[in-house]
Amino acid sequence: MTPSDPRLVRTRDELRTALARHPAAAGGPHARAVVMTMGALHEGHLSLVRRARELAEQVVVTIFVNPLQFGPGEDLERYPRDLAGDLRLLAGAGADVVFAPGPEVVYPDGDPVVRVTAGRIGDVLEGEARPGHLDGVLTVVLKLLHLVAPEVAIFGQKDAQQVMAVRRMVRDLDVPVVVDVAPTVRDADGLAMSSRNAYLSPAERERALVLPRALRAGTDALTGHDGDAESARTAARAALDGADVVLDYLALVDPATAEEVPAGYRGPAVLAVAARVGATRLIDNVPLTLGGEATR
Ligand code: PAF
Repeated sequence: MTPSDPRLVRTRDELRTALARHPAAAGGPHARAVVMTMGALHEGHLSLVRRARELAEQVVVTIFVNPLQFGPGEDLERYPRDLAGDLRLLAGAGADVVFAPGPEVVYPDGDPVVRVTAGRIGDVLEGEARPGHLDGVLTVVLKLLHLVAPEVAIFGQKDAQQVMAVRRMVRDLDVPVVVDVAPTVRDADGLAMSSRNAYLSPAERERALVLPRALRAGTDALTGHDGDAESARTAARAALDGADVVLDYLALVDPATAEEVPAGYRGPAVLAVAARVGATRLIDNVPLTLGGEATR
């Protein structure tokens, strides 16, 4: 097996067998890393796989469109699925094993009765627009962690609230895994890479660029204002004024709680935005240090 030839497994038994094989490729300090995805892979995912390769000897990518994290009326049915295309992209990216189970493998008894809850983190921001979404995410993340048993799991900063919830779950439930977070990958026009960008028409994509522009305005406003929360919020909001998108939220939150930071707050924060552009809901964010500079 070479890094350009990931082994596709679909069942729990196949996964167990594949995990037991010693990978041929050299790797990083951890024995095994996992990158969890819902497929429709793009450069953003590949950057996570490359990061995993640096961190571990064995790299597992999971591809599973998790029904539990989609609400009624959300895009579960139309969510892009292209396993053949995903495997082509993964060839050479450094994955050893691709675990692409069906729902009957992940949820053999149907919808799970016992689930993980994101608590307060799941009630705000994404949670207001998508009740139960983060509970569904955490439930499948914990199951996949049990099945793959990695030492390190790599997530993208693009899904900032997911990162907050996963970090909190790992801490609160003593899950034995290191959470590693990789920076958001952007297209040349500044739009954060997302599988949902495929839904955008060229005109919608143009309109969507107001999201990264607003985040940039927020971070730029910190310069010369001693990293003040209010100046970042005001500048980002001004950039969104009159934009042809339906704003869901613009928030400046504490990454430990996902709650709005008060005026005068100093320390790590995330400036996050969500908006609908036509029928497509997009999210974006930038981590900041208030009282300091943008961290990424
Ligand atoms: O970020 C995603 O693609 C999903 O939320 C995840 C972590 C794979 C869980 O289904």
